[in-house]
Amino acid sequence: MRLGGAVAFHDLAPRLESFRASVLEGLSRPRKSVPCRFLYDERGSDLFEAICETPEYYPTRAELGILAERAGEIAALIGRDAKLIEFGSGAGRKVKLLLHALNRPRAYVGIDVSREILLRATDDLSLDFPELSVAAICADFLAPIELPYEVTRGPGRGIAFFPGSSIGNFTPTEAQRFLANCRRMVGAGGVMLVGVDLKKDQARLDAAYNDAAGITAAFTLNLLERMNRELDAVFVIERFAHHAKYDPAVGRVAIHIRSLVEQTVRVAGRSFRFAAGEGIHTEDSWKYTVGDFQNLARDAGYRALACWTDAEQLFSVHYLTTDGGRPTTD
Ligand code: AVJ
Repeated sequence: MRLGGAVAFHDLAPRLESFRASVLEGLSRPRKSVPCRFLYDERGSDLFEAICETPEYYPTRAELGILAERAGEIAALIGRDAKLIEFGSGAGRKVKLLLHALNRPRAYVGIDVSREILLRATDDLSLDFPELSVAAICADFLAPIELPYEVTRGPGRGIAFFPGSSIGNFTPTEAQRFLANCRRMVGAGGVMLVGVDLKKDQARLDAAYNDAAGITAAFTLNLLERMNRELDAVFVIERFAHHAKYDPAVGRVAIHIRSLVEQTVRVAGRSFRFAAGEGIHTEDSWKYTVGDFQNLARDAGYRALACWTDAEQLFSVHYLTTDGGRPTTD
């Protein structure tokens, strides 16, 4: 642990070795893939922030709108002395809306794989909220995480905050497992406040993941550049393209890097052959209806106490409580 300013910093970041091992393993599969957490190096995180500003990518604006409109209502449900744990905290704009509305929030822990953005955001929060105990954990939140003392101690509700529809990167089964794990983390009386992107017409979704300025493409292809930078790979970026498409039957946007030609590429001392048109799967973004997601939350042991959407029904924010749900089977 290292103290950076007023922020307690815990570094559990996936090491270089894990990037190399994951890439070599993923590129050796019959259907090539690399886990989506590796999209978020410093450049990837900056590009993701830029995606959020594109006219086509509606989720960030829709969710900020819901949180701004409902912050008072949410704060009243939560009560005083909240202890927040944010997963995939990113730039931290959304939690500020919440913190401003809350009555004497006690503690905040941001968990993110991107160290630079995490440190910037938590430093910033501790300046804005001097009374708040602030901690940062650089980690992949799929792995079990030991929460620092600041959040486990004292009275007040544990609130898991998981905005941005990052839960959409999980399959529904993984999402359910993740929610069940968080339930144990926030404990009795705890809350999960989670942003979930909604099913909608295909054109709208395809546009959101294929913005005209090409920022989403740059975000996806940055994974190849990261491999070039960190793993001595020799991808020629122009020989690949970003590909994203919504499948309404499945309820998922699948994102791939497509090889435009047949080619062989060296990565970390090994050779990988790509057929023309072959893809590397980088991300899935699952979409739900409000009812789908509430059922999934109940199966994870929660009670779906409240749900807010924007006027266009683009996005949803769910307030799930840990008591009164269906009992979990695990
Ligand atoms: C950060 C996972 C919520 O799925 O919408 C956006 C990631 N990828 N455009 C999403 C993403 C390409 C984003 N999440």
